[in-house]
Amino acid sequence: MLQVQSLTKRFGPILAVDDVSFTVAKGEVLGFLGPNGAGKSTTMKMVTGFLSPTAGTAIVCGHDIQKSPIEAKRCIGYLPEGAPLYPDMTPQSFLGFTAAIRGMTGSDRASAISRAMALTELQQVASQPIETLSKGFKRRVGLAQALVHDPEVLVLDEPTDGLDPNQKHQVRQIIHEMAAEKTIIISTHILEEVDAVCSRALIIAKGRIVADGTPAELTARSPIHNAVTLRLRKTPPAGELKALGQIAGVASVESLSELGAPAYRVIPADGTPILQPVSKYVSDKNWEIEEIHLEKGHLDDVFRRVTTGTEAAAA
Ligand SMILES: Nc1ncnc2c1ncn2[C@@H]1O[C@H](COP(=O)(O)OP(=O)(O)OP(=O)(O)O)[C@@H](O)[C@H]1O
Ligand SMILES: [Mg+2]
Repeated sequence: MLQVQSLTKRFGPILAVDDVSFTVAKGEVLGFLGPNGAGKSTTMKMVTGFLSPTAGTAIVCGHDIQKSPIEAKRCIGYLPEGAPLYPDMTPQSFLGFTAAIRGMTGSDRASAISRAMALTELQQVASQPIETLSKGFKRRVGLAQALVHDPEVLVLDEPTDGLDPNQKHQVRQIIHEMAAEKTIIISTHILEEVDAVCSRALIIAKGRIVADGTPAELTARSPIHNAVTLRLRKTPPAGELKALGQIAGVASVESLSELGAPAYRVIPADGTPILQPVSKYVSDKNWEIEEIHLEKGHLDDVFRRVTTGTEAAAA
């Protein structure tokens, strides 16, 4: 559905996007992550034909965005960064305008507008000037504009930026409901969003892809993936604690004083599952457990590691 081929963008001395290639299939929701200035928006602008690349191209539904921009843009819905709108129009007139630009007329146009409004729940503000709408509603108008022609490919640049938790949930719900029928790319700084809506995530740093995988695969790269956290009633004997660190598959045992002593995190070597041997050991020694918890890992650790650490430099 979408093939990005060696996209590169240079702004004078700045190499904003550096030879980025990836493909996205129908039914996939690809999360685009990366620090500020990583090149996410620039990549999206090139994919949607708003910016011409220095090198490379994107093929959208079989159409090269540079050679056949009109055909390619026909199958793309794009919510640009900051969701720019015409403030003196109403959602109704703005959607009417975008549907007309998309070539829709008559009853097709009317039904496209009501469908987009219903999906984004804009009916109650349909006739209110956009400049008087709250930020969340403005963003929904931007989303409705991207959906009005029921495109096969959706490119959404930070669709939930600045929304309250309920509205974030709603926008994710909309994305989730459409996902099976479309190809969707969203950029976000909210890492929990990746788990909530994305089937796959790309992390980019300094214009290059530094990680690509399902949310579960990326989370598994966290140093605490499969670690076991224990909170105990009493501090165990030092010798028993030391022996815990020597169980096969255990790399180390950290004391977690911030949880209120005594608490420990048992870190596995290379993410090896250690829950069974650790819990057996703990019960053999009759340690009184207040809490035992298997860590899945945190995407933010992985994000920090690949965007600031040695892996980013090596990529
Ligand atoms: N029109 C432009 N002229 C010059 N430099 C630009 C232009 N647009 C983007 N850049 C630069 O390109 C780099 C990538 O910017 P981009 O907006 O793609 O980042 P981003 O990943 O979307 O960041 P953010 O998370 O802050 O939205 C930045 O260094 C930015 O300053
Ligand atoms: Mg951006």
